[in-house]
Amino acid sequence: MSVSGYALSDPDGQSLQGMVAIDGFPLPTFRMEPMQRGEVIKSIRSWTIRDDDILLATAPKSGTHWAHEILSMLHRGKAETISERFTLLEATTEQEFASAPSPRVLTSHLPLRLLPDNAISKIKIVLVLRNPKDLVVSKYHHMLGMRSYDYTGAFKHFLQWFLEDKLPYGSWFQYVREMEAIMDTEPDRICMVHYEDLKQNGIEQIKKIAQFLSVDADDQFCQAIYDCCSFENMAVKKLPPKDLQDKIWKPGCSFYRKGIIGDWKTHFTVAESEMFDEILAQRMTGSKLKFRFSD
Ligand code: A3P
Repeated sequence: MSVSGYALSDPDGQSLQGMVAIDGFPLPTFRMEPMQRGEVIKSIRSWTIRDDDILLATAPKSGTHWAHEILSMLHRGKAETISERFTLLEATTEQEFASAPSPRVLTSHLPLRLLPDNAISKIKIVLVLRNPKDLVVSKYHHMLGMRSYDYTGAFKHFLQWFLEDKLPYGSWFQYVREMEAIMDTEPDRICMVHYEDLKQNGIEQIKKIAQFLSVDADDQFCQAIYDCCSFENMAVKKLPPKDLQDKIWKPGCSFYRKGIIGDWKTHFTVAESEMFDEILAQRMTGSKLKFRFSD
């Protein structure tokens, strides 16, 4: 696998900097020098997985933090927000990974080919999906808001990058299709949850996850988790300390942005939406997945 620096530039001359590519696959560098981070990510395939690990697999901006909070509460058996934040598998190091106590929730946006070799064949996977129009809007604001990207481009160009698979983590389409293939071959090992269902029917979805993980969770506990993990609650209680928040985010920006279904309608033009629908239909030909774009 080859590691190289990676940057994008749009037709208005706005650029997205500070990324790394592994065999051309673009990734963020997570506060490490790009080549160094590339080498760490390259090594992940050989990291040792434990039988009781769980993989929380998501494309970026699908509701990862939300789902991680739900899984942690189910694991801890307590519906209580703690200040600790998770680190993505690809943002950690082998040492940190190996020293984390069991049961570990391995949270990652990486495609299967970059994950530890035995993750795919051995452990349970919780997959969270979000409709890709809201996802790209969320990703746009993420990159506009984070200081490290130093980015101020227009949405129309960002959307084009997304459709051309150029943004960090590459092709959303391919990611989703690879995960769907596991659902076809090993349906018992993967639990799929849609962001939109979590929003609208959260308690039911939490029960489904608990059952999948063989965690005892009665209605009252699932309701308590649902309440604790509301957008409003997390937006206050899971924020980093102010000095860190100000270091990471531009003024007025936050990881907890809107947390709604359908924000894409305030960003896409009619023509962009139609083009997106067409490309989605083409690239998801044969897929059984259905995405909900409104509440
Ligand atoms: P928006 O940018 O649309 O607001 P991820 O964790 O995968 O990076 O996803 C981030 C998106 O999930 C952001 O979407 C964020 O606001 C939203 N989100 C985070 N916590 C949430 C919660 N408890 N309920 C609903 N949405 C949440």
